Amino acid sequence: MRFNFDDLAREMPAGMLITDTQLEVLYMNAYARDKIFDLKPGQERASLLLRSKFYTTDRQVFDMHGCMQNMISMKKRTFHKTLIIRKKGGDSLLFFTARAFGVEGLEHYVFVLVDISDEMDCITHAPQSFGREEFELRSRIVGNDEKVRHIYRLISLAADSTVNVLVTGESGTGKELVADAIHALSKRRDKPLVKVNCAALSESLLESELFGHVKGAFTGAIKDKAGKFEEADGGTLFLDEIGEISQSIQVKLLRVIQQKTIERVGDNRPIAVDMRIIAATNRDLPESIRKGIFREDLYYRLNVFLIRMPALRERQLDIPRLSDHFVDQGNENTGKQVRGISKEAMRLMMRYRWPGNIRELQNAIEHAFVLVQNNLIEPEDLPESVRLETLSTEMVKPGEPVTHATIEPEFVKRRGRLSITREQLMEVLEKHNWNQSETARFLGISRVALWKKIKKFDL
Ligand SMILES: Nc1ncnc2c1ncn2[C@@H]1O[C@H](COP(=O)(O)OP(=O)(O)OP(=O)(O)O)[C@@H](O)[C@H]1O
Ligand SMILES: [Mg+2]
Repeated sequence: MRFNFDDLAREMPAGMLITDTQLEVLYMNAYARDKIFDLKPGQERASLLLRSKFYTTDRQVFDMHGCMQNMISMKKRTFHKTLIIRKKGGDSLLFFTARAFGVEGLEHYVFVLVDISDEMDCITHAPQSFGREEFELRSRIVGNDEKVRHIYRLISLAADSTVNVLVTGESGTGKELVADAIHALSKRRDKPLVKVNCAALSESLLESELFGHVKGAFTGAIKDKAGKFEEADGGTLFLDEIGEISQSIQVKLLRVIQQKTIERVGDNRPIAVDMRIIAATNRDLPESIRKGIFREDLYYRLNVFLIRMPALRERQLDIPRLSDHFVDQGNENTGKQVRGISKEAMRLMMRYRWPGNIRELQNAIEHAFVLVQNNLIEPEDLPESVRLETLSTEMVKPGEPVTHATIEPEFVKRRGRLSITREQLMEVLEKHNWNQSETARFLGISRVALWKKIKKFDL
C-alpha cells in the first residue's frame, strides 16, 4: 500500500512544517496553518514566522534561529521542547519537535507541533528553569531562600493550569501577592482578578456580594446586581480568609465549583460562570475540618493545588534582601535617601521572630524611615517590639517568663532616650492625625513622654 504525502500531511492531527536553514517556510500542512498559526490559505510562506512567534514556558521569547544553529553545531539532529505560541484567543502550549535532514545536498528542517494545551489543565510537566519570569516574579515577590524559589516554581505551574489553588500561611506572608502573581502569569491575565475578603462581611452580605441579587430579594435590594462570581467570569476569583465562611456559604460555594453555575439571591435562574478560584487562609483547615467547622469536600475542591507560604522566621536569610527592597520602596515614596540598615539594627532584625511576617517587616522599615537620622537605620529607629523582644531573648534565660516591666528599664538604660527631631515628631503626629495615644504607641514611648516631647518642641 502506498500513501500520498499530501493526504497524509493533511490528515495528521498535528502541525507539520518544512523550512530551509534560514527558517523560510517551504511547506506547511493545513493543520499548522489553520489551528496553530491562524493563517489564511496562501499565507503559508510568511517569512520569519518561526522566529517571532514562540515563547518558552517561562515566557521568554524563544530564539528559534539560534536554537537550530546550536543544534547543528552540536551535531544534533533532533530537538524537543515545550513552547508557547501567542494567539489572539489565548496562548497555546505546543510540544515541539524539530529534525534536520538533507535533501539534494541541502539541509532542511522538519517541524512537528502538537497542541497540548488541554492536557496542561492537569499538571504533568516538570517545572522549567527560570528566565525572565523569575525576574518578573521577583520584582514583586522578593526572596532567594530555597523555600521561596520553590514557591516561584509552584506559581508558574499553577499559572499554566486552571485548577483551583489554596494558599495557606501565617498573616503577612504574602498570600495575596501569590494570588496576584498566578493571575498575572496565567492565560486569564487579561480578564479580571476579583478579590473578596470573606471575613469582612456578615453571612448575608457575603452571600449577596458573591452571588449578586435581584431587585426586591431583600430590603435594600433596589435593583438587580451581579455578584463577584459573575464579575470574575473568565478570570480569577480570590477568596481571602476562606476559613471564615459559614457552613451555609460553604455548601453554596461547593455547588458553584461543581456545577459551574450560580443563582443570584432571590432568583432561581442558573447563570453559567467560568472562573479559577484562588483561596487563601491563615487557618489550619484540616484542624477546622476535624472540629466540624469546615467541610471536607469543599476543602478538597479548593485544595487541588496547595501553596504554603513559609513564615519569615523560616526564611531568615531573606531578611536583609527584603529590608533592602523596602528601603528602596521607602526612598521612592518619601524622597529620602536612606542608604540602608546599620549592622547593629540588622542584628536585631535577624534575631526577631516576626510574628507578623513580611508585613511587619515592611511596617518596621516604614517606622524607621520616620525616625532615621544620617540616612542609616539604627536600632533606636526600629519599633519597640523588634527592640524589646530581641532584648528579651538576650536577657532572659530560656523558660523564664518575660514581662514588659522586666525589660523596660534595661531597655531604656541600654538604648538611651528616644531621639527625635521636631520635624520627625510632626511627621509622626500628622500620620496619626495627632492622636497622641497612637503616636506614642508607634514610637514605643509612654503618653507622658510623648506629651513632654510635644511641649519641648512647642508643637
Ligand atoms: N516576598 C515579598 N516581597 C515583597 N513584598 C512582600 C513579600 N511578601 C509580602 N510582601 C508584602 O507584605 C505585605 C503583606 O503581604 P500579603 O498581603 O500578600 O500577605 P497575606 O499573607 O495576604 O497577609 P494576611 O494573612 O494578613 O492577609 C504586602 O504589603 C506585600 O506587598
Ligand atoms: Mg491577605
